[in-house]
Formats: sequence, C-alpha cells, structure tokens
Amino acid sequence: MKLLSRQLNILTLMHEDLVPPASIEGLDEKDIQPWKMEYDVSITLEQELHHKVTPLGIYGDLGELADALDRVQPDIVFNMMEEFDGHGPYDQHLVSFLELRRVRYTGCNPRGLTLARDKALSKKILAYHRLPVPAFAVFAPGRKVRRPPKLAFPLLVKSLYEEGSVGIARASVVRDDAALAERVELIHRQTHTPAIAEEYIEGREIYVGVTGNERLQTSTPLELVLEHLPEGAPNIATSRLKWDYAHQRKMGMLTRPAELAAEQSRHLAQLAKRIYRALYLSGYARLDFRLAADGRFFLLEANPNPCLSFGEDFAEAMHLSGAGYPALLDRILRLGLNYRGVL
Ligand SMILES: Nc1ncnc2c1ncn2[C@@H]1O[C@H](COP(=O)(O)OP(=O)(O)O)[C@@H](O)[C@H]1O
Ligand SMILES: [Mg+2]
Repeated sequence: MKLLSRQLNILTLMHEDLVPPASIEGLDEKDIQPWKMEYDVSITLEQELHHKVTPLGIYGDLGELADALDRVQPDIVFNMMEEFDGHGPYDQHLVSFLELRRVRYTGCNPRGLTLARDKALSKKILAYHRLPVPAFAVFAPGRKVRRPPKLAFPLLVKSLYEEGSVGIARASVVRDDAALAERVELIHRQTHTPAIAEEYIEGREIYVGVTGNERLQTSTPLELVLEHLPEGAPNIATSRLKWDYAHQRKMGMLTRPAELAAEQSRHLAQLAKRIYRALYLSGYARLDFRLAADGRFFLLEANPNPCLSFGEDFAEAMHLSGAGYPALLDRILRLGLNYRGVL
C-alpha cells in the first residue's frame, strides 16, 4: 500500500488525562494502559508516517480547541475523544464543531455517532432495512417496568447509551419479570440512563472491523473465546471481563479469527457493510455480532471510532486482513481528508 506522500500538519485531539508522556522508559504495562491508544497513534503518525504532530488534551472547554485550531492550522484533526465534559453522547457535538469550522477530522461523522450511540434507535433503523437485530424494549427511569408481552425471555439488560459493558454482569441475563425489574432498576441507579432489555442471543460472539466512507473494507472476523467459562455461565463480555486482567486470565479469554464457512464469511462481510451504511457511519468502526446456533447473525451494536491501540481487537482484525498498523492509520487519515460530509 502506498502511504500518503505529503507530510501533514496533524492536531491529535484527546482527553486531557490521556496525553502520553514523551518517553515511556521505566513505565510498565499497567502505567501505559490508560493512554496506550493515544501513545501508539501519536508515535506512529510521527515516527513511522513522518507527519508533524501537535497533541492537544481537552476536557470540557471548547475554547481550548478553538485556540489550538487557530494556532496550529492543522490539515486534519486526529480525533481520539470519546466524550466531552464527562459525557459520552457529547462526542458527536465535538465533531459537529469541527465540521462547522470546516476542519477535516478522522473517524466518524456526527450523524453516525448519534445513531450508533443509541442502542434502540440504531436497531429501529436496521429493522426498517430488514437487517437482523434482537427484539428489545426500552425502560425509562422512574417508570414501572412493564414488559411488552411479545418480548420473550431470556433477555439481556444493559444501558441504552453507555459503553464498556457498564452495568453488564452474568446476572444481566434475566429469565423472569422480577429479575428484569431488578436489573433495569440497577441500570437506572448505576448509570442514570434508560435501560434496554434485548432478546438474549445465545451463541458465538463475533467482531468485524469496517473502514471507509463510500467504498468499504471489512476485516477478518474475530471471535471472543472464553476457554475456562464455568458450566452454564453465559459467554458475554461483562464489564469485569473487559477491565479486570486477572479475571480475563481466569476465564481463558482470547480473541482469534472466527472459524466460519466461506459462505458465512461472505454473508457477514455483506451484512457489516449494509449496517455501516444504514447507520451513516464513516471513517472506521467495529461491529459487535452474535452468531446464533441456527446460523443467523444478529448485530448487538456498532462502535464508531473504536479503540485504536496496537494489538487491540480492531487494529488486530485489520492487521490480519493485511493492513499493518501504520497502513491502517494512513487509511484513516486519507478517509478523514476525503470525507465530504452528509449534505
Ligand atoms: N442481545 C444480546 N444477546 C447476547 N449478548 C448480549 C446482548 N447484548 C449484549 N450482550 C453481551 O454484552 C456485551 C456488551 O454489550 P454491548 O451492547 O456490546 O455494549 P457495550 O457498548 O458496553 O460494549 C456484548 O459484547 C455481549 O457479550
Ligand atoms: Mg460492545
């Protein structure tokens, strides 16, 4: 792959607590982990792709971003913000601001971020296109939990907006109305967001990376495997599994290329592209699927701007499909430069 031949002036935009130090000498894996993506991206843009990189860490002050844009006059903003002012759903507004300033940026556009964030709204759109999603119901805080009679158990209860499996444990898979009400209330209490209860899709968990604006590329599908899962426990990505390394080891967690029949792989790639388009995504995203025993895939959620750490699921999936890490970041830059908006 031919890399971008000209040097770009890049503003790398990140959370103020995650601006990596100039050197990682003497630090161990645990120290580096919180800002590993920011570090991997910055170093690769600068040292492997030879761009001019100015880091900017912000929290909730848009003025700091406006000042940096004036000062740096970047060709493109490399967007690694996953929230603004402590709120995840504000990520879309930050990108809207960049669009209004006519500044190019990497990753997903505001409309795609908005649609994918809401796990019910995105499924409503996909259902319209007859794309396979679990049946669901949404429960607002402060209302009595009444299950629509057609929504059958088992269900999985989670937050409508949160990421990182916040509030998801094995007990999130519920089998009766009492457990449903209990779990819904726990989501309200813990996250202050509405809860969504989805039909629980028993089966394999499979992730697919997608990059592109118009012409899309899909990655090798990866499967989440839990080699030492206790008998009868659901094979779901709980918050403990995502964040507790000792627990990951205990469960024998790994992700590896999913063994799928050639026909199934082709179908999954087509499905991933149709979902990406239906949700107006751009840049890059990781789609989380379940594969049921009868061979049907269901989309659980679309993650625009997934973690870009070297060796993490998304970069690893792209790597297996032939795009090494610098080539992946180069493609993400090109897509940002070429994105022409939704109007
Ligand atoms: N409808 C469902 N059926 C089966 N498992 C589910 C379902 N919804 C969520 N899960 C499990 O919970 C995990 C986290 O849910 P997800 O919707 O991807 O939220 P997050 O944004 O926190 O990653 C999934 O990776 C999967 O293991
Ligand atoms: Mg997920």
